[in-house]
Amino acid sequence: MLKWGDLVINKSFFISIEGIDGAGKSTLKEYLVDYLNSDKVICVREPGGTDISEKIRELLLDVKNEKILPKTEAMLYASARTQLVEEVIRPALQAGFIVIADRYIDSTIAYQGYARGLDIAYLHQLNALSSNGLKPNLTLLLDLDPNIGQERKILLKPDRLEKEGIIFQEKVREGYLELAHLEPERIKVLDASLPRDVVAANGVDLVRAFL
Ligand code: TMP
Repeated sequence: MLKWGDLVINKSFFISIEGIDGAGKSTLKEYLVDYLNSDKVICVREPGGTDISEKIRELLLDVKNEKILPKTEAMLYASARTQLVEEVIRPALQAGFIVIADRYIDSTIAYQGYARGLDIAYLHQLNALSSNGLKPNLTLLLDLDPNIGQERKILLKPDRLEKEGIIFQEKVREGYLELAHLEPERIKVLDASLPRDVVAANGVDLVRAFL
């Protein structure tokens, strides 16, 4: 367990964690929750986090839904997000909570934009609409070679997106790095090939600097 001393949290704060499948988002999230050690922390995941958004998640990740078109896919992710933002994230921030989101708007640009090939400008508009302009204060991007990601996460039952393969994941990774290049103040890149506790410590350092 990481020990960083007591932190007085007196403001709302929105952190998103991004990365290719298998980059270690869940582990980092657990470390952050442990570090923040507060009852004023809420964790959400995308797609998901509300009854309706979880139903949309099932639809999106079901391997049987191979006919979903890229635009349909993008709009379903956006719909799930709108519901999550208005039902959970915005009220939590207004109540002074720290929100940690496992994926958010950058996933749409990386996956539906850079990897699926939808128009990036159009997706930025969709993101603005779906989130009603709510951006994270800080985004931790776990950067990892997809080959390592795949070795780490041997999937018995890959979902519809995980079945896309290495080339798709490489495009997602490139997209994320491009986004980090464009928004260096908000998006901080973490080398996710390092041992998990080192990655977590680096992530915690970044959060501490922001808080
Ligand atoms: P998860 O497995 O990390 O929970 O995410 C579900 C999958 O959905 C993952 O493969 C990434 C993908 N995804 C998108 O393609 N676009 C999005 O906007 C989001 C939020 C996730």
